[in-house]
Amino acid sequence: NRVLVLNGPNLGRLGTREPDVYGSATFDDLAALCRETGRRLNLHVEVRQTDDEAELIRWVHEAADERLPVVLNPAAFTHYSYGLRDALAQRTAPLVEVHISNPAAREEFRHTSVVAGVATGTIAGFGMLSYVLALQAVAELIAQDAA
Ligand code: DQA
Repeated sequence: NRVLVLNGPNLGRLGTREPDVYGSATFDDLAALCRETGRRLNLHVEVRQTDDEAELIRWVHEAADERLPVVLNPAAFTHYSYGLRDALAQRTAPLVEVHISNPAAREEFRHTSVVAGVATGTIAGFGMLSYVLALQAVAELIAQDAA
């Protein structure tokens, strides 16, 4: 059961980036947490991060072609990337949108997600726990599907 955990721009800078908003854990800590959660849930978790919209879109196409579930933190692309949204609309497996912070409680421009409408669901505001909850959701969906 392969799952891609994809992360958009600036998330590679977790730990030093606005720690008051995003916490002091680094991206490597986040990747380790996701892989560890995967082992517990019997999922093979692959964690990637890019600042490049084109690269992220290529990964989303790969997931669609290989029918892989995706946990995605689109970061700032959440709020304006119709290119990313159109790529995600081609999905062939569950898609969970995740956010570390709660965008609804922040600036107005973060209240819109162009991704939410093509996601299976969204988990936001739980810090790095958002990713753990998202992976649990994916594991449940896979189990339901197999039943
Ligand atoms: C974020 C929220 C976005 O608004 C922001 O642009 C990010 C991170 C989050 O995980 O809380 O880069 O997706």
